[in-house]
Amino acid sequence: MTNKEIKDRINQLKKEKDAVILAHYYVDGEIQSVADYVGDSYALSKLAKSVGQQTIVFCGVSFMGESAKILNPDKKVVMPDTKADCPMAHMVSAEAIEKVRKCHEDVAVVCYVNSTAEIKAHADVCVTSSNALKIVRALPNKKIFFIPDNNLGRYIAAQVPEKEFIFNDGYCPIHKEIAKEDVLKARIAHPEAEVLTHPECVMDVLGISDYIGSTSEIIDYATKSEKKEFIICTETGVFYELEMKNPEKKFYQVMPDQICPGMKKNTLENLLKVLETLEGTVDMPEQLRLQAKAPLEKMLELAK
Ligand code: 13P
Ligand code: SF4
Repeated sequence: MTNKEIKDRINQLKKEKDAVILAHYYVDGEIQSVADYVGDSYALSKLAKSVGQQTIVFCGVSFMGESAKILNPDKKVVMPDTKADCPMAHMVSAEAIEKVRKCHEDVAVVCYVNSTAEIKAHADVCVTSSNALKIVRALPNKKIFFIPDNNLGRYIAAQVPEKEFIFNDGYCPIHKEIAKEDVLKARIAHPEAEVLTHPECVMDVLGISDYIGSTSEIIDYATKSEKKEFIICTETGVFYELEMKNPEKKFYQVMPDQICPGMKKNTLENLLKVLETLEGTVDMPEQLRLQAKAPLEKMLELAK
């Protein structure tokens, strides 16, 4: 089948099966083009709660599918590849959280959504890169244990000096690879370009960036900007929307491999297959779902 035939069939099956396709900005552009909604982690978790269809096909990584299921127990949530995973989601343990709780009575455990349901179940509140600052500021607690991402945690902590942070040493392998030296080289190659960076990047890179934001914030910033050239320090899936919205602007990568292997496990072929079979269901024990739901709901409430 050609890509066009696959896409036509996907569009037909969506209607027949009462399914909605949600996709993250990091999946392949071909998938974004057939998705009903494309967004950052925060937008997608809000959307998952408001869509009317009975089946959600989540094109992203497993923590995203899990969050959709946690918030929508009565819906069927499927993923084109249930093995599409985010390594950072596993970079903290429940034991580490409980240990910190024992030593710091009044600590708030703030959990980046890039985490497993088991980890969320031990947290007080979830955050995404676009709402973490607002939520941390809104918490009454002075002490914050920020998990699992060290880089996002430090970026937020620097803006909330009145709170005391405990950090975990998790990271995104893709963003961590983007080095300051390479960004500086890209700046020399493109002297007119602004550097737009995701807060999962290391502090050195954040320090030489013109703008820091989530995937959708980067896209919005570039779209509204009067500048014509941008160096993009995040996964290259965002180029699809950036270029669609801004055909007259130029976007540059820092390195050739700013690619998340988990996100790229979503293909047109396995998206078609999951719509045909509706296998690849996301499920979890009800008690775990309820425990993980509380911090996610708290995030949705505090981020309003
Ligand atoms: P956003 O919240 O910006 O969509 O980021 C998700 C992510 O996984 C970044 O690596
Ligand atoms: Fe996880 Fe990094 Fe991929 Fe985002 S880009 S899903 S943090 S591995």
